[in-house]
Amino acid sequence: MNIDDAMASRRSIRGFQDKPVPKEIIEEIIALANRAPSSMNTQPWHFHVLTGAPLEKVREGNSSRMLSGVPPVREITDHGAYAGPHRDRQVEIAKQLFAAMGIARDDKEMRQDWVMRGFRQFDAPVSIVVTFDKSLDGGTIAHFDLGAVTYGLVLAAWARGLGCVINGQGIMQSPVVREHAQIPEDEVIMTCVALGWPDEDFSANAVVSTRRDVNDVATFVGFD
Ligand SMILES: Cc1cc2nc3c(=O)[nH]c(=O)nc-3n(C[C@H](O)[C@H](O)[C@H](O)COP(=O)(O)O)c2cc1C
Repeated sequence: MNIDDAMASRRSIRGFQDKPVPKEIIEEIIALANRAPSSMNTQPWHFHVLTGAPLEKVREGNSSRMLSGVPPVREITDHGAYAGPHRDRQVEIAKQLFAAMGIARDDKEMRQDWVMRGFRQFDAPVSIVVTFDKSLDGGTIAHFDLGAVTYGLVLAAWARGLGCVINGQGIMQSPVVREHAQIPEDEVIMTCVALGWPDEDFSANAVVSTRRDVNDVATFVGFD
């Protein structure tokens, strides 16, 4: 798959086959992602790759705390609820996903079930928790670096037939993640990526999110 095809066809995958992902493929993907640019080549990232029992403990701890009403404990700053066009786009993708899954607007039980899937990292066989060096926590440049490396990771996975969803819900209770993934104190948990072989029968996996037009997102200066 060439880079254009990978970028154009990639979409978030939220249903996975019950099939392990070989460690060698994950190493290959991380090696490629690791070529991402970073400010002054600082490479401030670290990947904690979980599967099996430790991942089950993260899933269980994260979901049960969210279900019992423990407020989210994240290590990155939250912006609060989305509004305006951001909210509109959030609602649009939610509608697309719910329509694909046959979840009716007033079906509170199924909507809750969907939210809980997110807290369980969509039952993916692998979760990659992405962290950065705490010494850089005072500014936001490391956040940029993490975005770059995480997108590279997702694209490299996609090019190998693997599916991912970047999954903020999975680290909502970051102390649980830190404990079971044994993340050192000098790292900040940014997000996690749920990864596995896509389940072709899981209808939400076919959802293609919309994008704004190039003329909406770009301003050209000095081209006339
Ligand atoms: C920082 C970040 C956090 C995200 N967290 C979640 C999440 O918790 N649950 C989820 O279902 N999708 C999550 N996503 C996936 C987005 O919903 C998805 O990328 C967006 O709707 C566009 O869809 P696409 O990836 O299929 O193009 C996250 C994406 C990013 C970049």
